[in-house]
This record gives sequence, structure tokens and C-alpha cells, in this order.
Amino acid sequence: MAERAYAPYSGFAVGAVVVGPSGRSHHGVNVENASYPVGLCAERAALAAMVAFGERELRYVAVAAADGSDCLPCGMCLQALAEFGDAEVVAKTGGDVRVVRLRDLLTAPFQGHGEAADG
Ligand code: THU
Repeated sequence: MAERAYAPYSGFAVGAVVVGPSGRSHHGVNVENASYPVGLCAERAALAAMVAFGERELRYVAVAAADGSDCLPCGMCLQALAEFGDAEVVAKTGGDVRVVRLRDLLTAPFQGHGEAADG
């Protein structure tokens, strides 16, 4: 999966898979841009695929760098993922592949305000 990343600027190719209640895998890769901040992380690309498929509940997230480096989701991705609930995150950290809960990586996600937050 990560080998399909578009990462000509950082050279750091990442692939992610998210799984919702259906058990289907939704894939994403990082997609960089000449205007650097426009770039998209693999996790949010996978999340968009899950939502486009029709799922709005997150159960599992797996992320891996093509070169085998450590790769935990960044803060922006943690916030994006937390929108769809808690999940098990499978990622390499400290040289080992570990399973950690999303809410242990982001203990206090922003949950909105006012009417939008009330649903
Ligand atoms: N990146 C991801 O896609 N996921 C991560 O978990 C960490 C970083 C991407 C963003 C950027 O395209 C490149 O890796 C270098 O930061």
C-alpha cells in the first residue's frame, strides 16, 4: 500500500488501513503537494475512503511507513480519527509494532461546541 504514496517532497511514503463495523479494509496513502501544507496524510486519506464507503464508526487503524520506520499518526490525524470514536491503532513505535488505543494517544480530542457538537 505505502508504495503507492505520492511523497516526492519528503520521500517518506506511508500507507494506512482503517476498519469500521463491516470489517472491510479502507486504504489510504499520503498525498503530498508542491504547496507543502496541502499534503494529506495516509490516515486521513483512509478515513475519507471509509466515510465515502458509508461507514462512520472506527474500529481499527493500521499505519506503516514504506521504509519500515516508526510511524505513529500525527496530532492532526489523531483528531480526525477521534471524530469517529475510539479505535485500536496498530503502528510501529520504538522499533516495535504495537497496538495502542487512539484515546491513549489523544486523551482529550476537541469535541466541538454549540449546536454542531450537540448533533
Ligand atoms: N505522514 C503520514 O502520512 N502519516 C503519518 O502517520 C506520519 C506522516 C506523511 C505526511 C508527509 O507526507 C510525510 O509523511 C512526511 O511527514
